[in-house]
Amino acid sequence: MIKLKIAKHVADNTEAHALFYVKKAVQFSSVLSENGEIRVANVLSEMEKGICQDLEIVEIDGHKTIFVNAAMERGLSSLDHLRMAGYRLGKRARQKQFKTVKLLLADAADEQAKAIFHGLYYSAYKFDKYKSKTTKDFTVTFDIEADERTKDFERIAAEVAVEQHYTNLAKDLINTVGSELYPEAFAHIAIREAHKVPGVAISILNSKLLANEGFNGLLTVGGGSRFEPCMVKLTYSPKNAPKDKHLAIVGKGITFDTGGISLKPAKNMKEMQSDMSGAAATLAAICAAAELKIPLKISAYLCLAENRIGSGAVLPGDIFKAKNGKTVMVDNTDAEGRLVLSDGICAAAENGATHIVDLATLTGAMVRALGPAITGYFTNDEELSQKIKAAGDATCEKFWQMPLEDEYANELDDHYADLSNIGKSAGAILAALFLREFVPEGIKWSHWDIAGTAYVERPWKYTTYGATGIGVQSLIELSRELGDKA
Ligand code: BES
Ligand code: ZN
Ligand code: ZN
Repeated sequence: MIKLKIAKHVADNTEAHALFYVKKAVQFSSVLSENGEIRVANVLSEMEKGICQDLEIVEIDGHKTIFVNAAMERGLSSLDHLRMAGYRLGKRARQKQFKTVKLLLADAADEQAKAIFHGLYYSAYKFDKYKSKTTKDFTVTFDIEADERTKDFERIAAEVAVEQHYTNLAKDLINTVGSELYPEAFAHIAIREAHKVPGVAISILNSKLLANEGFNGLLTVGGGSRFEPCMVKLTYSPKNAPKDKHLAIVGKGITFDTGGISLKPAKNMKEMQSDMSGAAATLAAICAAAELKIPLKISAYLCLAENRIGSGAVLPGDIFKAKNGKTVMVDNTDAEGRLVLSDGICAAAENGATHIVDLATLTGAMVRALGPAITGYFTNDEELSQKIKAAGDATCEKFWQMPLEDEYANELDDHYADLSNIGKSAGAILAALFLREFVPEGIKWSHWDIAGTAYVERPWKYTTYGATGIGVQSLIELSRELGDKA
């Protein structure tokens, strides 16, 4: 665990100090003796020559001082450099079993302090529920000297604690194995979480209710599983929210994607336990927004089903009627995410959403196009697009806008049904064009394809393996932006 303690002044009796540097310059304030200044200058020039390295611990003015390079990785924004620096510092302090580390941040800007706090929290994530032997949790307390900024940094630290708590909720859900987290199990966790936060209401449509209301996307995809599909609806409607805005978040929640009858190859199939990452981020974000009291009406729709082979499984060529009346031919049962999302998007529109954002690990094409660093998003609204980019910049989640290319739209035509669930060319774009068929005119909509960014099988930034928690923080930030301007 990590703890952040903010104070105007921190006594010099912590086990270690930390010092951020960029090239030869110390970042933020440092209070050193003349001798100390000279020692630091020497260490930094040794760093440049490669004699010593990032995270070196050097005695300065009688304190063990961890030198943290705040500009090390290539391609990251300056804020993300600080997140990474915080992350490495957190790991180092834990490795050295320092119980208390002093940080001088009085001269840091709000967003810089926030980035460092996030990085420190990331360093403490662990997921050991399946290990028979677990190590006892070790708590590192970071004593932040904030001087005049104490009140601001206290507020920021509290915000970061909430954002990280819910990022971790999403990660825990995604890292939980497929046989344990089936749709109903996910729904139970959603109930537990919603009950913890005042202001969040929850209701669940089981398969009977789905059938009554014509949510056939979920029923079609879930037919082959012994676990019933369901839709979880959450709402948060604060009194001080602007009256003319209602954000709906829709999450793909395939608790495991075998591909169905259009079976996936065995290699890497286990990764498909993460096919509910969109739903996990959606649940986490609405709970976080409520806890942070963000002034915006938000609703959330978790589209939960298991895509599995069974006697009730949908067959290639089958045709069903989607919630908005359009008929869909299932050419490939592995293109299931778009089918369950059609139900979520229709539900969001029926409930009066002005803005809809859907998150989905939707296509392998997006994984190949943008890899683990960038989420590709599509939108029908330029203003929303700007806000998404800004939210991504603020939270160090990179977004790249993809085109809703009409030239490909007729690839979704079918001989007998209104739509086919796959096309022939650009995979990620066709998936987005399919979703667009369910967004009524006048609603601002964006689709985030997080297939490449939600889950990693080798270390990437602050994730060693598995769920990254992508989307949670951008959704929170986007809610702030939409809520701000009443
Ligand atoms: N869940 C997959 C997409 C995916 C792939 C997510 C890799 C994460 C990593 C999705 O349901 C899928 O199988 N999509 C197919 C669609 C195709 C049949 C049109 C794909 O991308 O191959
Ligand atoms: Zn699939
Ligand atoms: Zn899938």
